[in-house]
This record gives sequence, structure tokens and C-alpha cells, in this order.
Amino acid sequence: MQPLIQIENLWKIYQTGEIELAALKGVSLSISGGEFVAIMGPSGSGKSTMMHILGCLDRPTRGRYLLDGVDVGGLGPNDRARIRNHKIGFVFQGFNLLHRTTAIENVELPILYDGLSGRERAAKAGEALERVGLGDRRYHYPNQLSGGQQQRVAIARALVMRPSLILADEPTGNLDTRTSVEIMALFQELNRDGITVLVVTHEPDIARYAQRIINFRDGTIRSDQPISHHADAREVLSREQLESSKETEEEAR
Ligand SMILES: Nc1ncnc2c1ncn2[C@@H]1O[C@H](COP(=O)(O)OP(=O)(O)O)[C@@H](O)[C@H]1O
Ligand SMILES: [Mg+2]
Repeated sequence: MQPLIQIENLWKIYQTGEIELAALKGVSLSISGGEFVAIMGPSGSGKSTMMHILGCLDRPTRGRYLLDGVDVGGLGPNDRARIRNHKIGFVFQGFNLLHRTTAIENVELPILYDGLSGRERAAKAGEALERVGLGDRRYHYPNQLSGGQQQRVAIARALVMRPSLILADEPTGNLDTRTSVEIMALFQELNRDGITVLVVTHEPDIARYAQRIINFRDGTIRSDQPISHHADAREVLSREQLESSKETEEEAR
């Protein structure tokens, strides 16, 4: 079977004035559809650069990137944007929600220009919000939601286009332990439904929910290992007392 992601000898060199900086130094990697991968590594090791290239937000300086068998590097900006919109959902550390719009309006953003009626759009966005457990928070503004709930809205926004791939760059970086595990439980559910998930994290406690851990170091892959017994986040949530900042979660209600 052809891999979902295949990259060969990928380089990214940033040029800032006279200075060149190689953020990726010949990375090769293949990821199959349906995998759940954690990308780890110290700050500055090239993780975000890699995610931006995988997400077609940026292009490599050298090397090949095949997404679903399509050579993305050979495409123009319009085709790349189309692939990005239809295949890939992004989730970021800082949620990246629009603050003056409600949860449902945030989720509708990616389908705003799809020629749907307002009613159809709301139905799709509502469905995505229900999938992340926020069906009853449609008309809340981001500042009326807890951090974990805001990240769920961002995940619903990523889901509304029905992507085959979710790229999450430190999605739990701003969340307490319990809320982080809840977000990982959601990713595990989406993965069980067939979505390929890549999560960047520097926390081993978060990476253990993935099925495979790739470690970056200085622009190269230092290790790439399957986890034979990855943790089940739902089970951990029901079993363990995890630390959560209760006040902030309560305040948001
Ligand atoms: N837009 C940019 N211009 C110049 N240098 C950059 C840019 N983005 C990242 N870098 C540099 O590339 C290296 C890798 O960065 P990054 O991919 O963000 O690492 P990580 O996500 O692992 O912390 C760092 O040294 C960083 O300073
Ligand atoms: Mg980063």
C-alpha cells in the first residue's frame, strides 16, 4: 500500500539576510494512512518547520514530498492550497480562534466559500462541534470557554472539511494535565475513525498516547520507534487522578 506521507531527503534552509540556517537536513520518512504519530525533540530541532511543510504551508528547499502519491513540491500555490483545505486539518498550541466570533462561526470558517446555504453550513459546523463534545456551546465566544474547550473548537474547525490528516503542533502546550489527556483521548477517537494524526509534543506523558514516536534532533531524525503498548487516554482519565486547574475550567462555564 502506498504511504499517505512520503518524504525523501527533505531540506529546509532559511535565509535571513546573509545568514543561512538549515532547519531540516535531509529528512526521509514514510507514514501510512491510519497511523498516530508523535513528533518529539528539543526546541529548535525542526519540528514546526517539518509540520509546515507536511501541511503545505511552506515548501522544502530540496527533496521530495509525496502526499497520497501526489508530488506536492511540483504543484503551484493554488493546487497546494486546495490540497491543504481538503486533506489537512491544523491544530495549534494557541488555538488560533477568532475572538469576536462564536464557536460555530469559527468552525464555519473553512467552509465559508463552499457555496453552501447558511443553514447547511451551520448543520455541518454543528455536527463537527458535537463530535468534539461541544454541541451545547455553539453560541459561546472563545473567552467564555475554557482552554480545553477552545482547543476542541479548533479541532472541530479542523474536522469540518473531513480531512484525512490532522497535524497538531504542541496542541496541549497551553493546557493542564487532565485537559491535555482529554484532548489526546479525542485525537485517539478520531484516529480510530480512520484519520491519520501527527502530534508535536515535548512531553513524554503526551507522546505515549501515539503509536509511534519520531525524535528530531538538530534537523534530523534521531530515532523512530513504534510503541507496542500505547496508552488509552479514556482509560487513563477514568483511572487516574490527574491534575487540572479546576478554577479556570469552572470559570469558563
Ligand atoms: N521563518 C524562519 N526564518 C528563519 N529561521 C527560522 C524560521 N522558522 C524557524 N527557524 C529556525 O529553524 C530552526 C528550527 O525551528 P522550528 O522548526 O520552529 O523548531 P521546533 O518547532 O522544533 O522548535 C530554529 O533554529 C529556528 O530558529
Ligand atoms: Mg515548534
